[in-house]
Amino acid sequence: MTKNETLNSGVTKAVIPAAGLGTRFLPATKATPKEMLPIVDKPAIQYVVEEASASGLQDVLVIIGRNKGNIVDHFDSVPELEIALEKKDDANKLERVRAVSEIADVHMLRQGQPLGLGHAVLCARQHVGDSSFAVLLGDDLIDERDPLLPQMIAEHDKRQATVIALMEVPEESIHLYGCADVETTEDPSVVRVKSLVEKPDAASAPSNLAVIGRYVLRPEIFELLEKQGPGRGGEIQLTDALNTLAESDSDSVGPVYGVLFKGRRYDTGDKADWIKANLRLGVENEDFGAELKDWIRDFASNLES
Ligand code: UTP
Repeated sequence: MTKNETLNSGVTKAVIPAAGLGTRFLPATKATPKEMLPIVDKPAIQYVVEEASASGLQDVLVIIGRNKGNIVDHFDSVPELEIALEKKDDANKLERVRAVSEIADVHMLRQGQPLGLGHAVLCARQHVGDSSFAVLLGDDLIDERDPLLPQMIAEHDKRQATVIALMEVPEESIHLYGCADVETTEDPSVVRVKSLVEKPDAASAPSNLAVIGRYVLRPEIFELLEKQGPGRGGEIQLTDALNTLAESDSDSVGPVYGVLFKGRRYDTGDKADWIKANLRLGVENEDFGAELKDWIRDFASNLES
C-alpha cells in the first residue's frame, strides 16, 4: 500500500487512551503515567504519536486522567529549555526537543474517572464526530519496522468495516487479553471476527488470537459504548461493544475484521515487557547500541539458569 492511499482515507483522526491507573507497574506509576515511562530515550506515548503521524493521522486526541499533566507538558514547547540548549550550542538535542511538539496536532481531553477503555473511547465522541477513526493504546508499542496501522486503515477503506488487530499469543497468556473467535477470508492476513470475549480463561478461550492495541472504528461504536454497561473488572469494555458489533448481522454498521499481526510489539505497561522493549530498541541505538550488545552477550553467558 502506498502512503497516498493512507492519506486519501476517510480516517484522519487518532485517539490515544492514556488514562488508565497503570496498577501493573506500581509503584513507578504512582505519580507518573505508565505512558511516560521511557523506552530508551523517549516516553512510550511519543512512539505512539509518531506512529499515528507516520500513518497519515495528524489529528491526535490523547485521553488523559489523574497525574497526566506531564503528558500535556511533554508535547508542549518548552522555551526555557530551548534557550538553554541554544546557549550550549547543542543543535542535536535542541532539534530532538523541538521535534516533539511538531510530530502532530496533539489535543488533550480528560477522562474524569478511569471507568474503562470503552469509556475512554466514548470521551472522544465530540472530537471525532461522525467519521471513522483510529485508536492506539498509549502503552502498546508496535515496532516501526513492522507497520500495522496503515494496513488496518486500508482494510477499513476497502471493506467499509471496523478493523481490529489480532496477534497469536501462548495459550497460557490469553487470559490477559481480549480474545477473538474468527473465520478466514480470501486474504490470509485478514479474518472475519465472529465474537469477542474479554480476558477469558485458557479453558474457555475460543482461540489464541489476542486483541492488541490498535483499532480502526466506525462512529457507530459510540452508540454502542453509550449503552454498554460495566463488564469484566466493573469497567466499560471496548471489547464488549465490539462483540455486539461482531455478533450483529446488521450490514448498516458493517462487520468486524481482524488483521493478523506477526511483527514486534511491546506492552510497556508490563514490567518484563518494558525491560525487553528497552533492550530490543537499545541495541539499535547508534550511540551506545554496540556497547549494550557486548554487555548483554557477556551478561547472558554468565547467567545461571
Ligand atoms: P489497561 O488495562 O492496560 O490499563 O488499559 P490500566 O487499567 O492502566 O492497566 P493496569 O492493568 O492497571 O496496569 C488499556 C489502555 O486503556 C487506557 C490505558 O491507559 C491503556 O492505554 N485506559 C484504561 C484509559 O484510558 N481509561 C481507563 O479507564 C482504562
